[in-house]
Amino acid sequence: MNIDNTKSKHRKTPPFITIEGVDGAGKSSHIPDIIKFLEQSGFEVVSTREPGGTEMSEVLRDLILNGSGSLKTEVYLAFASRSDNLDKVIRPALSDGKAVVCDRFTDSTYAYQGYGSGYSIEDIERHEAEVHSDIQPDLTLLFDLPVSESMKRLKGTTKTPDNFESRPPKYFEDVRAGYLSRVKNDPSRFAVIDSSQSLDDVKIQVMNELQSFVARWTSSMHNRHKP
Ligand code: TYD
Repeated sequence: MNIDNTKSKHRKTPPFITIEGVDGAGKSSHIPDIIKFLEQSGFEVVSTREPGGTEMSEVLRDLILNGSGSLKTEVYLAFASRSDNLDKVIRPALSDGKAVVCDRFTDSTYAYQGYGSGYSIEDIERHEAEVHSDIQPDLTLLFDLPVSESMKRLKGTTKTPDNFESRPPKYFEDVRAGYLSRVKNDPSRFAVIDSSQSLDDVKIQVMNELQSFVARWTSSMHNRHKP
């Protein structure tokens, strides 16, 4: 992006980082630490989530999570929510030199609606190209753990399950397999975190992955700016 690069070495092209995983994989517990790490590394950070992130997208989130639309409607709502989030939060932040951390993004639509519910992967690819052909995550942290374990963790919470959390284990097996096939197709974008470990060990993995990502990012910036 063509942005003033005089204020900090990170200013020109800040990273877009997404966080993914099946329900119960524990990604939410680590997001504050991820943001803190990036800030300590010199980035200004904007965080957002999907579905959601803007006033309109939060309304769509409620429809996706608690409404009764068809699978096709679910996909359209997910991309409508994403489009508003991209227009109002993600693109403006990146253009302004800020890193973006997004809790779920298009990999969720592939994993849940595509691999989990059977919506055509080609159609998701088409929607993706329509909504954000200009932008892809630079890093995706995938919190991965066996479904038997994530189901146990979900059962341990007091929250009322939404449309997705109440689905059977087979659905989550397909979602997990979908995520892992996304990783196989694009291994350099993903860092897979073994979420079956203790909270502290998962945090260490996350910090190690972020550290090496930021080192790669910074050195590619330096190389790009060499005369
Ligand atoms: P999540 O982000 O895990 O929030 P919470 O921790 O509050 O439950 O849940 C959002 C749900 O939305 C999750 O079950 C996956 C689903 N989802 C889709 O099915 N498709 C999508 O494109 C996105 C972004 C999310």
